[in-house]
Amino acid sequence: MPEADVSKRDKNYYTDIPQPTAGYFLKGASNLGWGMKHRLAQVFSPTSGRTVMLAVDHGYFQGPTTGLERIDQTIVPLIPNCDAFFCTRGILRSVVPADITKPVFLRASGGPSILKELSDEEIAMDIEDAIRLNAAGIGIQVFIGGEHETRSVHNMTKLVDMGMRYGIPVMAVTAVGKDMVRDAKYFRLACRMCAELGANVLKTYFVSEEFETVTSSCPVPIVMAGGKKLPELEALTMAYNAVQQGAAGVDMGRNIFQSDAPAAMMEAVNKVVHENMKPKDALDLFNTLKNAKK
Ligand code: 5RP
Repeated sequence: MPEADVSKRDKNYYTDIPQPTAGYFLKGASNLGWGMKHRLAQVFSPTSGRTVMLAVDHGYFQGPTTGLERIDQTIVPLIPNCDAFFCTRGILRSVVPADITKPVFLRASGGPSILKELSDEEIAMDIEDAIRLNAAGIGIQVFIGGEHETRSVHNMTKLVDMGMRYGIPVMAVTAVGKDMVRDAKYFRLACRMCAELGANVLKTYFVSEEFETVTSSCPVPIVMAGGKKLPELEALTMAYNAVQQGAAGVDMGRNIFQSDAPAAMMEAVNKVVHENMKPKDALDLFNTLKNAKK
């Protein structure tokens, strides 16, 4: 039985020392194969080392949530301004034109709706379909501490094995149940477990205290999920703090597509992530672009 972490010794996350990335720009990816590296380089900018992924997969358990009622109308026009697009295969085939040139991350888990226990997921896509759809990566929910924790972890490891066979990176999404505490201790545990078990990228929520320990103790890149819609300045500040504290970008949904001006918000997030623009300046940019559209 592994001992619980009862050591009185202070932990040292070496938050000021970046993990070495010998020969390849992305954390934890140096020893991957060419195909996987090539896919990751489509998603993460080799220049900034970061990504702005646009997450619109929410319908897989929430149905047509606000902002995603008609993806053809509201989301397809935003695709040229993201680095990668995170969606389901159903939306990709039915709504997204095949001549987009942006890389696609595909949601590969599903099962329960918002009416049921969300951790009761299964793998919901064959790797062959991801290949057929030319996916740059696949994403799956992992419910650490959730009712179906072990199954969700095994779903992820199976997907990692499939991804490794074909050079397709797997992004583990650390889902948080209604009653779970969202703090750095929880996300350190969830992210590190997923990375140790093979995830190539982690997607997790931002926490205002010790987020840098979540990123530094995770040996693969972390992208920040946006969470519930916030006022634009708060969302931009969260994205700014996340990347300054070691996140390799964002995979944001509601804070972009539920904004009054999604294209302006997308542009502001791009500046924060790739150019370290300060949140207030990014808000000014957002307002300028939003007003220019009127
Ligand atoms: C749903 C997801 C979403 O992609 C994720 O939550 C990102 O979207 P948002 O920024 O709206 O939180 O993984 O389970």
